[in-house]
Amino acid sequence: MSDKLWGGRFTAKAAEWVDEFGASIHFDQKMAAEDIEGSLAHVKMLGKQQIITADEAQKITEGLELLQQDLLNGQLTFDVKNEDIHMNIEALLTEKIGSVAGKLHTARSRNDQVATDFHLWVKHRLPRVLDALDELQHELVQLADKYSHTVMSGYTHLQHAQPITYGHYLLAYFEMFQRDYERFEFNQKHTNILPLGAAALAGTTFPIDRAFVAEQLGFNQIYHNSLDAVSDRDFALEFLSNSSILMMHLSRMAEEMILWSTYEFNYIEISDDFSTGSSIMPQKKNADFAELVRGKTGRTFGSLMALLTTMKALPLAYNKDMQEDKEQVFDVMDTVLASIKIFTGMLNGLTVHEERMLESTTHDFSNATELADYLATKGIPFREAHAIVGQLVLQGIQQNTALQDMSLEVLQQAASVIDEDIYQVLDAKVAVDRRVSLGGTAPSNVQNEVQRALNILQER
Ligand code: ARG
Repeated sequence: MSDKLWGGRFTAKAAEWVDEFGASIHFDQKMAAEDIEGSLAHVKMLGKQQIITADEAQKITEGLELLQQDLLNGQLTFDVKNEDIHMNIEALLTEKIGSVAGKLHTARSRNDQVATDFHLWVKHRLPRVLDALDELQHELVQLADKYSHTVMSGYTHLQHAQPITYGHYLLAYFEMFQRDYERFEFNQKHTNILPLGAAALAGTTFPIDRAFVAEQLGFNQIYHNSLDAVSDRDFALEFLSNSSILMMHLSRMAEEMILWSTYEFNYIEISDDFSTGSSIMPQKKNADFAELVRGKTGRTFGSLMALLTTMKALPLAYNKDMQEDKEQVFDVMDTVLASIKIFTGMLNGLTVHEERMLESTTHDFSNATELADYLATKGIPFREAHAIVGQLVLQGIQQNTALQDMSLEVLQQAASVIDEDIYQVLDAKVAVDRRVSLGGTAPSNVQNEVQRALNILQER
């Protein structure tokens, strides 16, 4: 017989290195607190239902509470020969209270146990993601408020397109993070379901009370199909998927922060505490942290792909493949929490070069649309207006003269309907001021949207 908890029907012992391959204790020990928490609820239910005696339930409870203390004090040591956190905790419990510990596993399997631990682990941490996002959003709104009137060039294809306000740009990210927030909120719904009581796969003959266990553990739903309960990892996939989308958003902003703090752009400067220098080039100030967030997007997408691929085509119910689920989620949880926090700090200390931003809009012909719109309002069909302005831009590029620097005579040669008031229209500040259509970039819009954003944050 093997010396394993499940070793009854085994005659041979696996080599240590084989055991090690099958073990998960080196990573699933992260769920030690959740494993004990789940067991405490389970044993309470076993006692209440008289599946074990009150005295036995009492002894097991006391033992588990001792383990809880030891864990808090950093005094629990795990052994790879006990494979995973579930069997390690049971072995430690046996050391504490003797063979009565063996009654804890009545009406339970490691399959519903691991699912329960994992749900609990994610459930406990989703609020941290939401809090971190909330702080990031607060930071963005504050900045948007401060820079609601700051004019800069807006881009399409990374080419100067039309002037926008920096506040408007910042609120675009507020919107993305708001959707992220809502996705993680929804993620809670599918995490908040109790698998325990499914046993190995088919339920149990013992008169268990799953509603009681759910209440003990703070789950507001119970899996209604035992096969699904032990096989479902959607909540983990949703977490990885939501995290991937969030990291994609962060990576886009990171890219802009890196680009905009270059010598060429010089729109912003990242504070010293979120930058690094070079060991050889004394002048360097690198946006390492923004780069690292951009880089960590890769491992997040990788984790999502890894778990999707692990789950693909897995027959019901539990398969050992599923042991591969946890490391991805553990790693991504660390990654998103740290990345959001870094971003909040980076935005907090950001220096914005408003003059340089405005200057970028003055000789880039980004007011060409203004002129075309102007002609259109004077009755010229827009397509024709577009062609007229295109010609003027070409002339301007050849003569190195911006549209607003051309004389009225030159402009009127192109289109006789042009008047003195065109110079007002061609001003970048005026261009943004006039973009008051719903969702447009005008400072007055940004101010309204800041209020709306603050309301969203307040109502949480
Ligand atoms: N360590 C396993 C996991 O993480 C626990 C469940 C094992 N169940 C089993 N029947 N092998 O998935």
